[in-house]
Amino acid sequence: MKTTLSIIKADTGSVGGHNKPSELMVKKAKEVVENGINKGLFTDGRVTYTGDDIALLMVHSKGVDHPDIHKFAWDTFLETTKIAKSQGLYGAGQDLLKDAFSGNVRGMGPGSAEIEIEERAAEPFIVFAGDKCGPGVFNYPLFEGFASPYHNAGLLLAPEMKAGFTFHIMDVNYTEADRVISLKVPEDYYDICVLLRDPNHYVIESVVENATGLVAAVASTARLHNIAGKYVGKDDPVAIVRSQKQFPSTGEILSPWALAHLTLGDNRGSHHVAVMPVKQNTIISYFDGPTIMSAAGYCVHEGKLTEAVDYFDQPFWDVVREKASLKTLDMRAQGFYGPTMAGMDELEYTGVVENLKRLNEKFVVRKHV
Ligand code: F6R
Ligand code: MG
Ligand code: MG
Repeated sequence: MKTTLSIIKADTGSVGGHNKPSELMVKKAKEVVENGINKGLFTDGRVTYTGDDIALLMVHSKGVDHPDIHKFAWDTFLETTKIAKSQGLYGAGQDLLKDAFSGNVRGMGPGSAEIEIEERAAEPFIVFAGDKCGPGVFNYPLFEGFASPYHNAGLLLAPEMKAGFTFHIMDVNYTEADRVISLKVPEDYYDICVLLRDPNHYVIESVVENATGLVAAVASTARLHNIAGKYVGKDDPVAIVRSQKQFPSTGEILSPWALAHLTLGDNRGSHHVAVMPVKQNTIISYFDGPTIMSAAGYCVHEGKLTEAVDYFDQPFWDVVREKASLKTLDMRAQGFYGPTMAGMDELEYTGVVENLKRLNEKFVVRKHV
């Protein structure tokens, strides 16, 4: 029997500004997930939060895109929204962009990543959850972790991986349907770079191992402003990555996160800052950020999860966090000039556009002398 791992997350309200869900909301989500397990809807589940987003990890045998699982997640977020409203929390129901559930959370606000697998004898995997960033945050670490021997030493040392990986990359600006291209490393290495260099337009949807055809990684691709037509909060993506044996080791997948790479997100979804690797259940603070990413490792066995290993809760990452703070402070020191703030096409709030329109009328044109 196959096992499906589903991670579905949403911001349904937060204490303070966009900082963290309340204890009551998290408690409620945990109770509901416990009920889901007891009723046999799924075999195991976990509830965590990253900044202001609650993430539900569910293990089941129903396959990806199953309406029962998606409806369960949607209903759970309605429950946490109800609590957020009753407590007068900020942004209650923020990511629930549609009124009625229609079979799948995709296109409705919550972010999701799902993978159906034949469990290996030992099945280690990592769940990534980010806040104050878009799905393109995974372009750098997933590509490097799978395709670059700088991080994935297995490409040189483990014969199983020599045939490389196929990257399925989505054009997230195309909203009528899913527009996807499939490219392989090593053959298409440079073409992949051409796309991934623009992480607000092209994002990795999944990674498949060439030698075995096994899906190694999946990531959410939702861009909320493309769904809502306006800024309603950053997308705050999730990803699931399998590790070890025929896949990169856990450490190889985590290695690129040590760069604390720059991404678009942070305050008003409109600033370039460094991604800070954080423990699970970390809050948001400085400048409505910084952009954060948590990584939880599990093994799944016959539909049951082990306890989580909280990968970024390890002394090594303290120095990376410090580096991320310094990089972010460096960007922030330049305020709104040039590359620190998003370009016009990515500015999430419309104020600049309106201001420019007003100022445009005040320009005078002087002839060249
Ligand atoms: C970024 C984010 C925050 C808000 C900011 C203003 O993703 O959630 O930076 O954009 O706090 O929030 P509103 O517009 O809700 O007052
Ligand atoms: Mg929010
Ligand atoms: Mg969020």
